[in-house]
Amino acid sequence: MSTAATIIAGVGAALPAGKISNDELARSVQTSDEWIRTRTGISQRYVCSEGETTTTLASNAARHALAEAGLDRADITIVATATPDLTFPGVSSQIQQMLGYQGVAFDINAACSGFVHAMSIADSMMAQGDLTTALVVGADTFSNLLDWSDRRTAVLFGDGAGAVVLKRQFGVPGVLGFQLQGDGAFVEDLRATDGVATTQTSGFTTMNGGEVFKHAVRGMADNLTETLAAHGLDVDAVDHWVPHQANARLLQSAAKQAGISLEKVVMTVDRHANTSAASVPLALSVAVQEKRFTAGDLVAFSAFGAGFNWGTVLYRWQ
Ligand code: ACO
Repeated sequence: MSTAATIIAGVGAALPAGKISNDELARSVQTSDEWIRTRTGISQRYVCSEGETTTTLASNAARHALAEAGLDRADITIVATATPDLTFPGVSSQIQQMLGYQGVAFDINAACSGFVHAMSIADSMMAQGDLTTALVVGADTFSNLLDWSDRRTAVLFGDGAGAVVLKRQFGVPGVLGFQLQGDGAFVEDLRATDGVATTQTSGFTTMNGGEVFKHAVRGMADNLTETLAAHGLDVDAVDHWVPHQANARLLQSAAKQAGISLEKVVMTVDRHANTSAASVPLALSVAVQEKRFTAGDLVAFSAFGAGFNWGTVLYRWQ
């Protein structure tokens, strides 16, 4: 193979120190461990305390991924987040400041779908030829965007960050392709009530749970099938599906609709809850730690989130 492809050279993750179980949550919100587990599959979530922010989590995940890749910098740094510490500069620039390097740096916001979008952008930029390494981070602290007395949303989310280092390499398949989609007609079905994040005026997360469920199932399943078809593959070719960890019932339905058996689905929502843009790279980091992938495996990353925005990246594991 004489053409260059984008490969994953390192994976990193970072979680806040504090963990809240369903039972602990049920002491302050009118809910129960039983309700949360049966409806969502979530049993705990990590939540930031004093001194922990989207940037501290993102930079820890970034350090980890860069070390795994044997690098101390990247040509491109993209952070997918809906909850940056500052309106500007971006978390990506703050990572550069903390880690002490220069290069292209910007943040994107495609909510829960942000990591898949950021990975696609990095792959496209590197395909131009000049830039050969990218740090792609998904990081969110939805604890800043929750009304903790609203049981319909407070039980669903957690904080975290995950990162990958991408490299251009010759003679390997790597990223096979991606497909991104969006439909702003659904802005009202999943949104923050007001303002911008982390200014204490950012409002709270509201959602039309039923609509989100329906569209996320169909969106992720159809997008996966279409992306595979565009590359001459069908669903049986997928060895592992790493979807956005919204909730277990949603993922089970999407897998069923796409025709993927549950053993192929990487599911970490039980321990992380929904960490928005961090959920795909966090799930990836767990799968890598568990050594679930072998060289040649076809791994599909899919996500769905506010906007609505959704997409899939196909990757041949190295
Ligand atoms: N604990 C106890 N009871 C609850 C809770 C809770 N945490 N939340 C809602 N209820 C109650 C409701 O008030 C309602 O009571 P009522 O019948 O007396 O009015 C009852 O449970 C049923 O409520 P529904 O909203 O119909 O519950 P449903 O079975 O649809 O489950 C859920 C809600 C889990 C949110 C579901 O709609 C869902 O999974 N939606 C997908 C949304 C999602 O995952 N969003 C994450 C962000 S978006 C993304 O990442 C793609």
